[in-house]
Amino acid sequence: MGTIRQIVLTRRPQGVPVPEDFALAPAPMPEIGPGDILVAMRVGSCDPAIRGFLDDRPSYLPPVAIGAPINGMSLGEVIASNDLAWPVGTFLRTFATWSDHYVIRGDALGLERVDAAPGVPLQHYMGALGPVGLTAWVGLIAVGRAQAGETVVVSAAAGATGSTVVQLAKARGCRVIGLAGGPDKAEVVRRLGADVAIDYRAEPDLADAVRAAAPEGIDVYFDNVGGETLDALLPLMRLHGRIAVCGMVSQYNDADNPPGVKNLWQLVVNRVTMRGFLTYDHADRLAEAQAELDALYAAGALRPLENLHDGFAALPGAFIDLMGGRTIGKTMVLT
Ligand SMILES: NC(=O)c1ccc[n+]([C@@H]2O[C@H](COP(=O)([O-])OP(=O)(O)OC[C@H]3O[C@@H](n4cnc5c(N)ncnc54)[C@H](OP(=O)(O)O)[C@@H]3O)[C@@H](O)[C@H]2O)c1
Repeated sequence: MGTIRQIVLTRRPQGVPVPEDFALAPAPMPEIGPGDILVAMRVGSCDPAIRGFLDDRPSYLPPVAIGAPINGMSLGEVIASNDLAWPVGTFLRTFATWSDHYVIRGDALGLERVDAAPGVPLQHYMGALGPVGLTAWVGLIAVGRAQAGETVVVSAAAGATGSTVVQLAKARGCRVIGLAGGPDKAEVVRRLGADVAIDYRAEPDLADAVRAAAPEGIDVYFDNVGGETLDALLPLMRLHGRIAVCGMVSQYNDADNPPGVKNLWQLVVNRVTMRGFLTYDHADRLAEAQAELDALYAAGALRPLENLHDGFAALPGAFIDLMGGRTIGKTMVLT
């Protein structure tokens, strides 16, 4: 019987997480019983939502206990199985833990088979051809109902989700304005095809900058950040505009002190729909979404933007960079 490695929570982070909040811990290699599936992690995912699970507060999943492995999405390979539907050698994606090996069953949360197309890097199926792409599609199309010719604004536009939204919205014939923190990120957003990329950190007044780029207003705001950015954009929404609330990452590191949003009255003024969503609530649309993402990728119109780290032990550092706002593209660890 060997050992496995896990990344466990040693204490609850205050603000942006630091290395001392995590530890690499050995654990016995789990044995599999009837119906169990033993998986070796191949791609570990860093997601801002994980920051919410580290606080001792209700989220859409329970908090991670001190000493327990961190929860997160994992793409892995079946290496032993007592479930005929999941034979050895199958690749899968599931909500698991930051463990280099883990046991699941066929009813595991978010369990999906991954059939990588020949020549396509496996990690794309955790990124733009996986949950990231599906999130961009669901927010932009199913929730935001973006139409060709409309103006779409997306925040964190150089990030995992945002960079995919930029490309998807362009492919759908929208006019796209991407907001990103810093000149390097803004340049990335421009190269992805955005009509306008705004480095919001360099703007004395974000609303003025967006108004200049979209004088007739915003049809769809794909909100990744919430907070002051959301407040600045609310008065710029057009009649019957839509705000697809994907996340509010600007407040995850300090969830006790969310900034006040003062301009909500604008929802009434312009009869704007503002709707939060979770990607996997839209199960009925995911096959359609996946087909469009695959087709765009095959046509060269969707270029996955990735921030890759090597080795299982890199997970905490990669996550700290993500939550420090320093990353470009989807942050993943190849184990
Ligand atoms: N609803 C769903 O089903 C679902 C699924 C996946 C992700 N999400 C949400 O989508 C959003 C984007 O996630 P992602 O995985 O694509 O991450 P990401 O955009 O790759 O990374 C986060 C980016 O957010 C921006 N940011 C703004 N304020 C920040 C702060 N205080 N701390 C850290 N980052 C900050 C930074 O970009 P700038 O420097 O450009 O501001 C940062 O690079 C998050 O809100 C996440 O929770 C939702």
